[in-house]
Amino acid sequence: MENESVPPLLAVGITYNLKKGVISDAEDIEAEYDSVDTIDAIADVFRSVGIRVEYIEADADIVEKIKKAKVDIVFNIAEGANGRGREAQIPAILSFLGIPYSGSDETTLAIALDKAITKRYLSTYHILTPDYQLVTTPNFQLDPSLQFPLIVKPNYEGSGKGISDLAVVDDLESLNRVITKNFKLYGQPMLIEQFIQGREFTVGILGNGNDTKVFEPMEIRYLKQERENRIYSYNVKINYKKYVEYVCPPQLDASTLEYMKNIALEIYNALECKDFSRIDFRLSEEGDIHFIEINPLPGLAPGYSDYPMLAEFCGTGYKELVLGVLNSALKRYGRKQINSNRGA
Ligand SMILES: Nc1ncnc2c1ncn2[C@@H]1O[C@H](COP(=O)(O)OP(=O)(O)O)[C@@H](O)[C@H]1O
Ligand SMILES: [Mg+2]
Repeated sequence: MENESVPPLLAVGITYNLKKGVISDAEDIEAEYDSVDTIDAIADVFRSVGIRVEYIEADADIVEKIKKAKVDIVFNIAEGANGRGREAQIPAILSFLGIPYSGSDETTLAIALDKAITKRYLSTYHILTPDYQLVTTPNFQLDPSLQFPLIVKPNYEGSGKGISDLAVVDDLESLNRVITKNFKLYGQPMLIEQFIQGREFTVGILGNGNDTKVFEPMEIRYLKQERENRIYSYNVKINYKKYVEYVCPPQLDASTLEYMKNIALEIYNALECKDFSRIDFRLSEEGDIHFIEINPLPGLAPGYSDYPMLAEFCGTGYKELVLGVLNSALKRYGRKQINSNRGA
């Protein structure tokens, strides 16, 4: 039992956006938002070590709510609302108010949510990423240097949003069809990328500076043979038990594994990510490691999201992982870290 007269060492506000059950033509409209179970799971971790928790839903009253909550630090997993900078909105408000928060800052989040800008930026670090073209209108001329098959994705989405069974195309007609449909559904520029046949991996990172831990890559192994079932689309993600198995550490020679981890760390540092991130790669049949995208705000749904799953494979359970993110942030702000045995 906590002693009521002794104030908890720390109060943490969790900022988040919840799925609301919005009906839309795009079935994946709310793919990036969290379910209340995830917020509860994070809150339970904090409460288990004696931290006071405030739930702060990131809606139009966010500024008042944050001020009223009087927390020492915010654990931010909010996706924000509207536009390509949405993931940066809550960090920007917190920075503005001078309130410490976990995770990357607004600049990193704004850049990373824009897949084309991130690719362009990382290419200056000579990070290999599939060739691409960004199209801003359904009437476009395909860059002749791109060769089918190609994959089409909305430029600033995540969680497989906008990546349907039809995303990979073999000819101009199918490409135009997908582009026209996606513009209607998602109303944003589309990224056309060289499709990289081959194995898929995701790499999780935790911490900062000398304390940065790069977890072993986790392979997303596709169980089906059809090409549309061999991409981590929205459909495959939500029905993952049917379509994929997760292997960590994967069967890969030691030097490729090490190289992939090093590239992941280089990307994390290049984008000045903070506390945690997850980075997706494809290993081409020629053996080249292609950067696909980075998620500086990876999902934290226990038993579902890739980041807690890969950490678990590497021996870092959910509680340790969530506290690891918080502690990384506390350390950055020169605050005392929380011992995971506290309150146990
Ligand atoms: N260039 C590509 N080549 C092959 N597969 C790709 C490529 N880009 C994306 N994919 C597939 O689509 C999935 C989702 O794409 P990604 O860019 O990671 O978007 P999201 O933000 O929705 O996770 C990837 O996990 C991968 O399976
Ligand atoms: Mg991805």
